[in-house]
Amino acid sequence: MFDFKFDANALANKVILVTGAGDGIGKKAALTYASLGATVILLGKTTQKLEAVYDAIVEQGSPEPAIIPLDLKGATKQNYLDMVSTIKSQFGRLNGALLNAAMLGELSPFAQIHEQIWNDVMQVNVNSQYLLAQALLPLLQTTPDSSLVFTSSGVGNKGKAYWGAYSVSKFAIEGMMQVIADEYDTTSVRTNAINPGATNTKMRSVAYPGEDAKTVAYPADIMPAYVYLMCNDSVDVNGQVINAQ
Ligand SMILES: NC(=O)c1ccc[n+]([C@@H]2O[C@H](COP(=O)([O-])OP(=O)(O)OC[C@H]3O[C@@H](n4cnc5c(N)ncnc54)[C@H](OP(=O)(O)O)[C@@H]3O)[C@@H](O)[C@H]2O)c1
Repeated sequence: MFDFKFDANALANKVILVTGAGDGIGKKAALTYASLGATVILLGKTTQKLEAVYDAIVEQGSPEPAIIPLDLKGATKQNYLDMVSTIKSQFGRLNGALLNAAMLGELSPFAQIHEQIWNDVMQVNVNSQYLLAQALLPLLQTTPDSSLVFTSSGVGNKGKAYWGAYSVSKFAIEGMMQVIADEYDTTSVRTNAINPGATNTKMRSVAYPGEDAKTVAYPADIMPAYVYLMCNDSVDVNGQVINAQ
């Protein structure tokens, strides 16, 4: 595991957007960031799941979060611009954004990838990330020491048979991260990616239906890397892929 020890107030007074915050790794990251003092903006597709995370954050005594229900498959550039102006008017700043939401699509031989699945995976995992990052960067730039974190995968820098569109989309994410990191190198924004590694979530169980879920890490186990990239200890880290395991 990525070894990083942090204080109980490591993220105090930070405003952090987490996409895919209703389930899996994003849910655990949102709860963890909030427990360390951050005000978390929960973005996701299923409002009920976001509300449950909202309640859990309030129950654990953390700063009151905000909810943004948004389906990245259908969202437009204007939706993201509106979202950023709402964040700006409500909070006045954005210290970090964890772009975590993604879809797996279908694992299949390359020759049999359906065009619709390919397009959906690219829309959610790549195009929406470009639109989100483009909308978020001006606000991140006005906040000192801000952190933009993309989510890659073990198949994001080495292609693997049957991982098709998902693998290609994660290569694109690593490329997007590097382009932005290089362009914004002299600004207050640092841009990196996390590779969570095999983690016990819905997505993992769909990809590996026969696997004993107890043999892989839980989202809680990989949180040190997620906290590291959001807190001030990583201010000088830019353009890197951090392996959470
Ligand atoms: N788990 C692993 O082993 C593993 C390994 C490598 C990389 N990753 C990456 O880690 C990240 C989190 O994965 P996970 O395992 O936590 O997956 P997950 O359990 O399937 O959770 C994905 C989250 O993304 C949201 N989401 C999916 N499509 C969306 C859309 N169109 N619009 C808005 N939100 C959407 C989901 O919302 P709903 O629940 O509302 O659908 C859910 O909250 C992903 O980027 C994944 O590629 C995971």
